[in-house]
Amino acid sequence: MIVLGIETSCDETAAAVIEINENTLTVLSSLVNSQIQTHEQYGGVVPEVAAREHMHNMLPIVEMVIQHAKVTKDDIDVIAVTQGPGLATSLMVGLETAKAMAYSWNKPLLPVNHMLGHVYSWLLPKEIGIEVAYSIEYPFLALLVSGGHTELVKVKSPLEYELLGRTLDDAVGEAFDKVAKMLGLSYPGGPAVSKAALEGDDKAYDLPRPMINSGDYDFSYAGLKTAVLYQLQKISGGDRSRPVTTEVINNMAASFEKAAVDILVHKVTKAIQEFTPAMVTVAGGVSANQVLRKQMQAALADYPNVELTFPELKYTGDNAAMIALAGGFLYRGGVQMNKYQQLSVQPNLKLV
Ligand code: KG4
Ligand code: ZN
Repeated sequence: MIVLGIETSCDETAAAVIEINENTLTVLSSLVNSQIQTHEQYGGVVPEVAAREHMHNMLPIVEMVIQHAKVTKDDIDVIAVTQGPGLATSLMVGLETAKAMAYSWNKPLLPVNHMLGHVYSWLLPKEIGIEVAYSIEYPFLALLVSGGHTELVKVKSPLEYELLGRTLDDAVGEAFDKVAKMLGLSYPGGPAVSKAALEGDDKAYDLPRPMINSGDYDFSYAGLKTAVLYQLQKISGGDRSRPVTTEVINNMAASFEKAAVDILVHKVTKAIQEFTPAMVTVAGGVSANQVLRKQMQAALADYPNVELTFPELKYTGDNAAMIALAGGFLYRGGVQMNKYQQLSVQPNLKLV
């Protein structure tokens, strides 16, 4: 089965063509047009600007993936598109494009929850055009960590999930982005904070780990972010115009990163003890973080029966191959969408 995937939930215009069979998977083509350079100057994503860029890039990128995949529209069995969650005006561009294509090409259209794409991103092979075997053992746990979400999910089948916990305020990626801003680092903040942290001492500042021992699987990152702000105010003696030194920036970045990661690792370890899953996957933009990967690997060394997976680095951030894959699984699971003409975006779509 050949699936065309489309993703425009935030500031990446993405399209992909993948082939999914019973036990094998091939990414035939996957392209992501990032708008980071456009939004960098504003220090964050400006929704209307993002939508305009999506409109500009959408059809050329679809045309290009079909060409790169060496397929024609007749080869495509299903079109999968992100319906939500995300920015309404960004989502609209992808969804309306997909609806128009499905309508004129007479193909089934599968609306996909963006987070479900992240859940399956660990299956995507690094190489384009190479067929790989895959198998999935259910149930597995998925820790989804991105700019908008921090969720721990038990995946029982492609159609069945249980939300174990989520953030009650900021997402972990959002905390990285906000702390980066406080430290005068570039946008997006995650990579900038982790780069600075490489040079810093993660024990330099004593930062809280909110809700680490709350006994449930919920998260909270607002308090940690505020604690960084207070520490920085203390260091500058309340004078915000006084620049902090590189040493302070690096040490604060390292201390923050360690605190943020400690919470994630602790909650996942607790969930492993309770649910004994065969596999844990960590996905979403923040799963590119190397401290998170290393600490998670170290913690899971105590559980040799639990496999730990991460997506390839190119699939940690938003992409359309993961949307095509999740859409393909839904389609195979019997999900049909016949009246898609009425379909609209769902900016607050929940996974469960
Ligand atoms: O999944 P994603 O690309 O988009 C959303 O769906 O939100 O995630 C983006 C988030 C941003 O907050 C970004 O700062 C964070 O992922 N991020 C990182 C790293 N790379 C990206 N956070 C920590 N360390 C990284 N290396
Ligand atoms: Zn995402």
